[in-house]
Amino acid sequence: MAESGFVTVAQMGELSPGEMKSVSLGQEEVLLANVDGNYYVVSNTCTHMMGPLAEGELDEDQVQCPLHGAKFSVVTGEVLNPPAAKNIEAYEVRISGQDILVGPAKS
Ligand code: FES
Repeated sequence: MAESGFVTVAQMGELSPGEMKSVSLGQEEVLLANVDGNYYVVSNTCTHMMGPLAEGELDEDQVQCPLHGAKFSVVTGEVLNPPAAKNIEAYEVRISGQDILVGPAKS
C-alpha cells in the first residue's frame, strides 16, 4: 500500500513503547522503534561492520549495536558512540489509522 512514496511496514499494535524490530522496506531491512509512543525508522545496518542493529539494545531513543557497542540515535540516525564513525540513514514516518508508513530517507 503506497501513499505518495510511503509504504506500510507494520501496524501500531505490533510494537510497545521501548521495543524495536526489523521490518522490510522494499529490498532492505530497516529498524522500527517505538520511543514513548512515537515511531522512528532508521537503517538496520551498523556503519562499523554491518551489525544488525535491531538485535541490539534500545535505550530511550538510542540503539546499541550488538556486535561492538556503537550507539546511534533512532530519531536522527546520528552516531553517538564509537567504534562506528558514520551516521545511519533516518527515514520519514507517517501514521495512517493503525498503519505505520515509511517514506524516503531524511537526508
Ligand atoms: S558492527 Fe556495530 S559496532 Fe561494530
